[in-house]
Amino acid sequence: MSALVSSALASSEVADAVRRGLSAPRKALPPFLFYDREGSDLFEQITLLPEYYLTRTERGILARDADSIAARLLAGARGPVAVLELGAGTATKTDLLLAAMVRARSDVHFVPADVSPTPLDAARTRLAASLPQLRVSPLVGTHGDALRRAVAWEGDLVVLFLGSSIGNYADDDAAALLAEVQSALGPRGTFLLGVDRAKSLSTMLPAYDDAAGVTAAFNRNMLARINRELGGEFDLATFRHVALWNEATSAIEMHLESLVAQTVRIGVLDMTVRFARGERVHTESSHKYTDRHVQGLFQAAGLAPVASFEDAERWFSLHVTRRRA
Ligand code: AVJ
Repeated sequence: MSALVSSALASSEVADAVRRGLSAPRKALPPFLFYDREGSDLFEQITLLPEYYLTRTERGILARDADSIAARLLAGARGPVAVLELGAGTATKTDLLLAAMVRARSDVHFVPADVSPTPLDAARTRLAASLPQLRVSPLVGTHGDALRRAVAWEGDLVVLFLGSSIGNYADDDAAALLAEVQSALGPRGTFLLGVDRAKSLSTMLPAYDDAAGVTAAFNRNMLARINRELGGEFDLATFRHVALWNEATSAIEMHLESLVAQTVRIGVLDMTVRFARGERVHTESSHKYTDRHVQGLFQAAGLAPVASFEDAERWFSLHVTRRRA
C-alpha cells in the first residue's frame, strides 16, 4: 500500500462554500463546515448527551454483533485488508469492530478518514495503546478524496460509513456517494453503512435540540468558524438554533435564525451579508430512513444487501453490502 499523505482541507474550499452558501437566495451552509477543531470537540460532546441516542444505539449493535459483522465484512477477502472509515472522527465505536476483525485475521490496516485532523490523532493514539497489532494510517480529506486514494491500494477493501452520516446527503447525492463507494470496492470489497431509522418525533427532535445547549453551540460554531477563519463579524447571540422535522424529506433540519435585521461583514471574502429578521440559514439535514428507503439507495448505487443488524427497538440499523454481481 502506498504511503498516505495527510493534507488539511484547503482553506479555499471553506471560503468558496461560505461565499456560495450565503449569497444564495435561500441561505445555506454545508455540514462539513461544522468540523473544525472546536466543532469536532462539540460533536464528541453531543455523542455523550442523554438525548443523542444515535451513537450509543449504534455502539450497542456493534458490541453485540461485532463478530458476525466482521465475519460478513471479511468473508470474501483473500489478501491483506484495508479498512477505510469515511468521516471517522475519533472512531471510538469502531474499536469494537476493529477488535473483532483483528481477532479474525492479522493483516488488517485501518485508514480512518476525516476532514478534521485533530480527532484522527486521538484515534491513532488510542488504537496504538488498545490494539497494537493494528496498523493505523489516518487520512485527512473529504469522502471523495479518501475513496479516490483507496482505489489504488492493493488487497481487499472494507469501507465503513457509520453514525448515519449518510443522512447529511439528499437522496440523489447519497446515491452518488454510495456509487463512488461501490466503484472503489472492487469485486470482493464490502461496505458497512449505519443509518438512523425514522421513529417518533419525541425521540428524534430532542437529539438535535438538547437541554444543555451543546447542539445549539455546535450549530453556532459554524458562524464562529467564519469569524475565526474568514474575518467574519457575526454576533452569535443574534442567531437562534432551530431544529425541526421536514416530513416531505424525512429529515431533521438544523437552521440558524437571525433574531434581528442585520448586515454582517466577512472581511476575507470582501462580502457583506444581509439578514432579514427571522431569516434562516439551513446548516444541516439529517435524514431518517425506512428499510425501503435504504434498499432503494443501495439499488440505485449498484450495491447488493448481504446482512443487516439492528437494536431491539429498531432505532438504528447497520447494513453490510457488496457490489451487485
Ligand atoms: C454526524 C451527521 C450523523 O446528523 O446526527 C449531531 C451530526 N448534527 N447533532 C447527525 C449532528 C447535530 C450527526 N452526523
